[in-house]
Amino acid sequence: MIVPIGSAGEATRRTGTSGPHPARSVAVHGAGDQRRCEPDPSDAPGAAVTSQTPERRSAPAASRWRLPRSWRRATLVLHVISAGAWIGIDVIVAVLVLTGWFGAEVNVRSLAYRALAEFVVWPMLGSGLACLATGVVLGVGTAWGLVRYWWVAVKLALNLALCILIVVLLVPGMDAVGAYGEHLLTGTPSSTQVERLFFPPAVSLSVLTFATVLAVCKPWGRLRRSTARREDR
Ligand code: HEM
Repeated sequence: MIVPIGSAGEATRRTGTSGPHPARSVAVHGAGDQRRCEPDPSDAPGAAVTSQTPERRSAPAASRWRLPRSWRRATLVLHVISAGAWIGIDVIVAVLVLTGWFGAEVNVRSLAYRALAEFVVWPMLGSGLACLATGVVLGVGTAWGLVRYWWVAVKLALNLALCILIVVLLVPGMDAVGAYGEHLLTGTPSSTQVERLFFPPAVSLSVLTFATVLAVCKPWGRLRRSTARREDR
């Protein structure tokens, strides 16, 4: 059963904010019926101590830094754009890899590998880092926290892992991929440099799709309840 606590205006007074925010949920669900996609309303900085949260004292609003509403929205826009750009660049990588491998004309295949080596990897790393940076700002600057909820912590780990893989595995091999593309025009070079190129877009697109599902569904709840309580004090 859902028992609304006060009006929307009251919610705004309680939380000191409005609009999309983990603190915005002003519905309390029956025992065991807490929606897993939403953090506990009492996690909100400045949230009132209600009869449903007798043991919790809210932190004074001034003692915890939170992103102002407009900054939060702007950061979220940048976060979604950078995530979308990252996925788009991965799709371009997949198209270039497939064209380089299966293309009918050697000119086109050569061009695909050279374009891959020349243009793609740095924008991919840039969008990955932008997604990471804006995600960290959103985590730190909202009641979601960085390692407070599983869905945020897992996204953080995945984002870091992908960026490290780009730097450690992808970037160092790009000169060889470009050279392979040039040698295609003059002979039949060994394909060992490029046959592993199928993995990066496949892995990255799968992980980013999973991260997007996590972002939308926000599953699994909190990492540790005790941590959340400490943070609330
Ligand atoms: C791995 C790549 C990532 C993708 C594809 C991604 C995608 C998204 C998307 C689509 C949203 C909007 C969801 C919504 O509003 O319902 C979102 C929100 C969010 N993301 Fe990410 N994200 C990624 C990485 C990260 C990282 C590394 C962090 C933090 C360490 C993070 C923290 C957040 C937070 C806290 C929100 C909610 C912001 C709010 O509601 O104000 N994300 N993410």
